[in-house]
Amino acid sequence: MLTSKPAIIALLGSTKQESINKTILGYITDQVSDDYAVEIFDITTLPFFNPDLDQESSLPSSVKTFRKTLEDAQGVLVSSPEYVFSVPGVLKNAIEWVVSTMVFHEKPTALITASSSGEKAHESLQLILKTIGAQIEGNASVLIQSPKTKFNQAGLPTDVQTETVLKDLILDFTKSMQARAIVNK
Ligand SMILES: Cc1cc2nc3c(=O)[nH]c(=O)nc-3n(C[C@H](O)[C@H](O)[C@H](O)COP(=O)(O)O)c2cc1C
Repeated sequence: MLTSKPAIIALLGSTKQESINKTILGYITDQVSDDYAVEIFDITTLPFFNPDLDQESSLPSSVKTFRKTLEDAQGVLVSSPEYVFSVPGVLKNAIEWVVSTMVFHEKPTALITASSSGEKAHESLQLILKTIGAQIEGNASVLIQSPKTKFNQAGLPTDVQTETVLKDLILDFTKSMQARAIVNK
């Protein structure tokens, strides 16, 4: 009998076609593909956040889909660049749509900030995700600086340190998803 794999929903803070954050998500997807199905949710489908629409009677359908998708996911993977010392608007907008919900509450989450510098966005994303209740265990949060120099054309890490931090991230992220799955059984 075919059993579907648990879903990891990825949120990508870059809308670029040739995004290094997308490359990193691709690498992680390959690493976990035996056990999980990773799907990037297209956060560009979400309208600008408006508190007036943030109620059952007026909630845009794309937002309903977004919330349900996150709720059903075993884990959430966030990967983002930094823009003007902050979180890119498209990602911040998506997160604003879930602030009034519990969809991130105790949700196993991994965070990658891959950017030239990225310190401010990384710090900010850590605070935002903690505030909405995301569960980021141990090494499941990494800042990868100057990322374009650290991956080859095939999308693989070119240095041992980058490979190690990503493998450690995957390990702690998958451990927390497994622990959560047991609790929810
Ligand atoms: C409008 C704009 C603003 C940026 N501001 C920053 C910044 O403040 N800090 C930083 O580290 N990188 C900054 N960058 C560089 C990108 O974040 C960096 O190239 C990143 O790796 C791109 O990721 P991506 O390929 O996944 O889009 C900026 C890029 C753009 C287009």
